[in-house]
Amino acid sequence: MKDILQELERRRDIARLGGGEKRIESQHAKGKLTARERIDLLLDEGSFEEFDMFMAHRCTDFGMEENRPYGDGVVTGWGTINGRQVYVFSQDFTVLGGSVSNTHAQKICKIMDMAMQNGAPVIGINDSGGARIQEGVDSLAGYGEVFQRNIEASGVVPQISVIMGPCAGGAVYSPAMTDFIFMVRDSSYMFVTGPDVVKTVTNEQVTAEELGGASTHTKKSSVADAAFENDVEALYEVRRLVDFLPLNNREKPPVRPFFDDPDRVDASLDTLVPDNPNVPYDMKELIVKIADEGDFYEIQEDFAKNIITGFFRLEGQTVGVVANQPMVLAGVLDIDSARKAARFVRFCDAFEIPILTLVDVPGFLPGTKQEYDGVIKHGAKLLFAYGEATVPKVTVITRKAYGGAYVVMSSKHLRGDINYAWPTSEIAVMGAKGATEILYRSELGDADKIAARTKEYEDAFANPFVAAERGFIDEVIQPRSTRRRVSRAFAALRNKKRQMPWKKHDNIPL
Ligand code: HXC
Repeated sequence: MKDILQELERRRDIARLGGGEKRIESQHAKGKLTARERIDLLLDEGSFEEFDMFMAHRCTDFGMEENRPYGDGVVTGWGTINGRQVYVFSQDFTVLGGSVSNTHAQKICKIMDMAMQNGAPVIGINDSGGARIQEGVDSLAGYGEVFQRNIEASGVVPQISVIMGPCAGGAVYSPAMTDFIFMVRDSSYMFVTGPDVVKTVTNEQVTAEELGGASTHTKKSSVADAAFENDVEALYEVRRLVDFLPLNNREKPPVRPFFDDPDRVDASLDTLVPDNPNVPYDMKELIVKIADEGDFYEIQEDFAKNIITGFFRLEGQTVGVVANQPMVLAGVLDIDSARKAARFVRFCDAFEIPILTLVDVPGFLPGTKQEYDGVIKHGAKLLFAYGEATVPKVTVITRKAYGGAYVVMSSKHLRGDINYAWPTSEIAVMGAKGATEILYRSELGDADKIAARTKEYEDAFANPFVAAERGFIDEVIQPRSTRRRVSRAFAALRNKKRQMPWKKHDNIPL
C-alpha cells in the first residue's frame, strides 16, 4: 500500500510541475505566474479540488506520442471564493504553450458542464498559443465544443475570463462570449490576427500590445472590462467581482454584512448640482455617497466615460448602477455609451441584480459620425435592454432628462418601478435655448424677446413638477436623502415579479 501511495504522489508531483522548472522560470521571467499559482491566488486557501490531473492527449502525429504530459496544458477543477463555489480552468503555458488539444478542451467542457448543472460561475484563466497545431481539426472541434458551452452557459451562470498571456485567432471567441474579461497590462493580448498577418494584409506596422493589449481593449475596442498591473492584482479583483454576483440565474446575489446606516443622510448632496446647468459635476460622488461604505466596483471604467456602470451594495445587497457622467461630453448618450450600458443592464437582468439609474442626460450626440456608425441601432440597444429588464428598477433624475434620452434612461414608460427626481431636475423635450430657437425662430434677432421666451420656457419646463403632476415621477426627493429613499425603494421591490410575454427570444437590434 505504501508503494501505491508513493506512486500516486510521484505522479502528482510530475503533474504539478507542468512543463518543468526551466519553463516555469521562463514564465516567471515574463512577470507571469504559473497556472497553479494563479488558481491558488484566485481561490480560498486549500479549497481547490482538481479534476483530470492525469489526463493526456492521444495524438500520434508529428511524434506527439513521445510527448504526453499529464494534464495536457490546462488545470481544471473547483474551489471557493469567500466560501462560495466557483469552477475554474487555468491554461498552463509551460505545457506545450498551453495549446488547446481535443483533450485540453474536453477538460474545460467537463467543468463547464458541472458549473451549469450545479449552478456556479466559471472562471477561465487564458494563457495559450491557441489551437494545438499537431492536432488539426481535432483541436478546432474542441474549441467548438467550448464555444457551444459558453453560449449555453450565458445567462445561466456568470462566466469570467482572465487573459494572462496570448489569446489569438478563433480562440478569442470563447472569452468574447463570457460576461467579463479582465486583462493584464504588458503580458496579455487578444487579437483575431496577429501583427505579422496584419503587416502582410494591410501593411500596418503594429506591436502585439498596440494591436490587442490590455490598454487597447479597455480603452478603444471595449472587448475587455478592466486592465490590471499584474496577475496578482487581476486575480484579487476577480475575487472582489465574484463577491457581488449570484452563483447562477436562479439565486439572488449574496447578502454581505453592512455597517452603514441605510437611513444615512448626506447634506453635501444638496449642493452637488451646480447652479449653472452647464457646469459639470462628478456623478461618481453621488454613487459613492449612496453605496454601503462608499464601496463602488466599476465596470469598463476606461471606455465611454460619459456613462458609468458598476456594482455596489445597499443594505448588503448588490445593486447594478448605470449613471450618466456630466463630466464627460456633458453625459450625452452615444453609440459607445449606449452599447456599454445596454450590455451591463442585460447582465444585471439575467442575474436578478436590481438596477439603479442616475440620470443627467442632455440627449443623444449629434453628428455624421454617429449617424453613419448607426447610433439609431446602437442607441436602441439601451432602450431595448431597459424595457425588457424585469428586475427592480429605481431611477433618480438629478438634473437634465431631455428628449429620447429621458425615455431611454429607465423612465416610468419603460416600466421603471420607482422614479425619483431631485428638485434640480429638468424634464423636457430639449433645453431652453434649443427650444426657444425653434419655437420663436422669427424673433431670433431680438435678444430681449428671446431672453424672455427662454425664461418663460425655463419656468414652465426646467423642473420636475410637470412630470410629477402626470405621475411620471413618483416623488420629488431631497438630494440629501437619496440613499435612504433608494434603499427603501429597493427594499419594497424585493419580491417583485414581472414577466414578459412568452417568446423564443427577442430580436434586440445588434
Ligand atoms: C502547439 C505550441 C503552440 C501551438 C506554442 N506552442 N503554440 N505547440 N501548438 N499552437 C509550443 C511551442 O512549440 C513551444 O514548445 C512552447 O509552446 C512555447 O512556445 P514559444 O513559441 O517558445 O513561446 P513564445 O516565444 O512565448 O511565443 C508564444 C506564441 C508562439 C506567440 C504563442 O508560440 C506562437 O506564435 N504560437 C503559435 C500561435 C498560433 O499560430 N496558434 C494557432 C492560432 S489559430 P517548446 O517545446 O519549444 O517549449 C487558433 C485557432 C483557434 O488558435 C480556432 C478556434 C476555432
